[in-house]
Amino acid sequence: MTEKNDNIPFEEDNYTHNIHRNNERKLDRRGFMKTLVGAAGVFAVSSLPWGGLAAKELASLGEKEYKHKKIADVDSIEIGGAVEFKFPSEHDEAILIRLSENKYVAYQNACTHLRCPVFWVKEEGEMICPCHHGKFDVETGFPTAGPPRRPLPEIQVKVDRGAVYAVKVKRYEA
Ligand code: FES
Repeated sequence: MTEKNDNIPFEEDNYTHNIHRNNERKLDRRGFMKTLVGAAGVFAVSSLPWGGLAAKELASLGEKEYKHKKIADVDSIEIGGAVEFKFPSEHDEAILIRLSENKYVAYQNACTHLRCPVFWVKEEGEMICPCHHGKFDVETGFPTAGPPRRPLPEIQVKVDRGAVYAVKVKRYEA
């Protein structure tokens, strides 16, 4: 009489097979983790220079003082009003905006996208470039909408004996 035991090798075989499969899974997981770590490393390394450049760009505002130039008498600018002027040269269009009794902001107003003139729209409380619907924050000169990516060069002003003067230009160093 022959004992039927052909199930045993088959099960063992299955068992062994499973061990291998588990090892394979471990290896797969390890390989996957290595890939993840590698990818994270590559990302970190590749993003470093760009992060560094972005930080540098934010920190690279250059300031230059010029011969002070009278823009307008305080009495001639209403609150919320604006005056156009040129600074520092006769080719540099600029705009002065009186935001409150004692607060003035001024910018060179050639759009940082393609140099169309930027206007102050009092009713909307925004600086607008009509060419491609660019907008700039009136408090900072930073772009808030449309294609411009760089802020408008800021002109520092001072009030002296009833008049507003342009003093310095603060711009991004290219
Ligand atoms: S030139 Fe100002 S948005 Fe294009």
